[in-house]
Amino acid sequence: MTKGRTDSLPMRIGILGSGKGSNAQSIFNAIGEGKLRAEVVCVLSDVEDAGILDRARRQGVPACFISAAPFKTKLDGEAEEAYIRTLVEYGANTVVLAGFMRMIKAGMLAAFPNRILNIHPSLLPAFPGMASWKQALDYGAKVAGCTVHLVDGGMDTGPILVQKAVPVLEDDTPETLHARIQIQEHIAYPEALALVAGDAVSFLGRRVVIGRARDEQGANP
Ligand code: GAR
Repeated sequence: MTKGRTDSLPMRIGILGSGKGSNAQSIFNAIGEGKLRAEVVCVLSDVEDAGILDRARRQGVPACFISAAPFKTKLDGEAEEAYIRTLVEYGANTVVLAGFMRMIKAGMLAAFPNRILNIHPSLLPAFPGMASWKQALDYGAKVAGCTVHLVDGGMDTGPILVQKAVPVLEDDTPETLHARIQIQEHIAYPEALALVAGDAVSFLGRRVVIGRARDEQGANP
C-alpha cells in the first residue's frame, strides 16, 4: 500500500511536454492571475518543434529540447539522467507532465518522490493509454473527463488529486470530445497544483488527503 506525504515547499515547477502545450499555458495563466503560488523554472520537451517550447519562450521561461532516444515510449537511461540533471540545475522541486507521451521510470521517481504530477484525458481508471477520448467514444461511454494524479511506476496510475467530468454528446467526433475535455483540463491542472502547493498532500493507498492523513496523526485505531 502506498503511504506517504508530499512536502510543502515553495513550488518550483519543471514542465515536461511533447505537444502543443495548452495545459502548460493554463499553468502560466493561473500563476499570472495569482491563482497558483508557484514558478515555472523550465519547460523540457522530447519533440524539437513542440508548441509547448514556443509557449515557454513567449513567457520568458527556459525551454529545452532534450532527445529521449533511443527509447520511443519511455524516459530511461542517459536521456532520463539528462532530464533529471536539467530539472535539478533549474531548481525544480515539482515535475508536471503536460502531454508528455512517455512512461516515467524509477530514476525520475526517485529524484522527485511524490512530486511528479500527470494529467490524463479520461476519468481514470477508465481508458488509460493513448487517445483516451477516442477510447471513450468508441466504447460508447456517456461521460468522459480528465484526471490529475500523482505519478507512480504504472501507466496512468497513482493517487488521484482532481477529476472533472464532461458529457459525451451523440454527434461528438474524437476532436470535439477532446476539445471539451481540454477545457476542463485547463481548470483541473492549476487546481491540483494549488492543492499540492498550498498544503502537504497525504495519501493512503489511492486516497489523497489534503493535510495530514488521520492515521499519521494516530487518530485511526
Ligand atoms: C492532453 O489532453 C493531455 O491530457 C494528454 O495530452 C494532451 C496534451 O495537450 N496526455 C496524455 O494523453 C497522457 N497520457 P497539450 O499539449 O495541449 O497540453
